[in-house]
Amino acid sequence: MNRIHTLVVGGTRGIGRALVRLFCSEGHLVSVIGRHQPDSADQVLPGARHWTVDMRDERRLGAALKDIIRRRGKLSRLVFLQRYRGGDGEDAWAGEIELALTATKNIIERLIPHFDESAERAIVIVGSPAGDFIASERDLGYHVAKAGQNQLMRYYAAVLAPYGIRVNGVSPATVLKEESKSFYAKNRRLRDFYRRITPLGRMGTAEDVAETIAFLCGPKAAFITGQNIFVDGGLSLLWQESIVRKHAPPK
Ligand SMILES: NC(=O)c1ccc[n+]([C@@H]2O[C@H](COP(=O)([O-])OP(=O)(O)OC[C@H]3O[C@@H](n4cnc5c(N)ncnc54)[C@H](OP(=O)(O)O)[C@@H]3O)[C@@H](O)[C@H]2O)c1
Repeated sequence: MNRIHTLVVGGTRGIGRALVRLFCSEGHLVSVIGRHQPDSADQVLPGARHWTVDMRDERRLGAALKDIIRRRGKLSRLVFLQRYRGGDGEDAWAGEIELALTATKNIIERLIPHFDESAERAIVIVGSPAGDFIASERDLGYHVAKAGQNQLMRYYAAVLAPYGIRVNGVSPATVLKEESKSFYAKNRRLRDFYRRITPLGRMGTAEDVAETIAFLCGPKAAFITGQNIFVDGGLSLLWQESIVRKHAPPK
């Protein structure tokens, strides 16, 4: 049997890296796109191979995608986790739209002919609750890009369903990932507050999100398409005023 080939876009750090580790542990071929190489231990994960490219460079991105298919064969799964992190003097609005929307669309369009018809085929786009709610610490571009990703996901879910390609979204609340663990270790009051306001009683982790993505990619989700799953321990179920009333400081 052919090994499952998964492309993880934005898999060099954060949630994407947790997903690459999970898929590698399950024996997949995992092709990874990012601007940098990951840490040395992740460079040698069995089955993983990294392409270092800035996705905003369409020409280099096109060449990398061609190379991935040529070297590793047709795709079964495609997951988007890239996140615009800005840069000095850059236009953040343009950067968000280009990275979250234009690059996602371009990659999907280029790769549709290269999905393996003999395998379970799925695309997952990782968004954010900021696609549905207003997050005061994020700028307008992030909100519009995340809302756009939701609709892009639904559009492709409808258009690609007849080809047997399922498309879903995952929206994580703030999660603990390797890069943020020391911050939350030093800020225990904030972490405790997350724990108290989250119905399931803890902060989520990059691994919680990776497991949800893996489920949506796999055969157990064979009849699910066009859905956006919140991975937030139930936080988005609560009416904000109830949180304020319950946790308001005593007089
Ligand atoms: N972490 C959270 O708590 C959280 C909460 C809500 C939603 N999310 C969503 O979850 C997704 C992943 O978040 P994260 O926190 O794991 O992000 P992250 O740690 O910043 O990782 C982002 C990934 O995107 C890659 N990337 C960024 N710009 C790129 C470019 N121009 N070209 C190619 N690759 C690029 C990065 O690779 P390089 O660094 O090598 O360039 C990295 O692999 C995002 O969609 C984010 O909005 C995360």
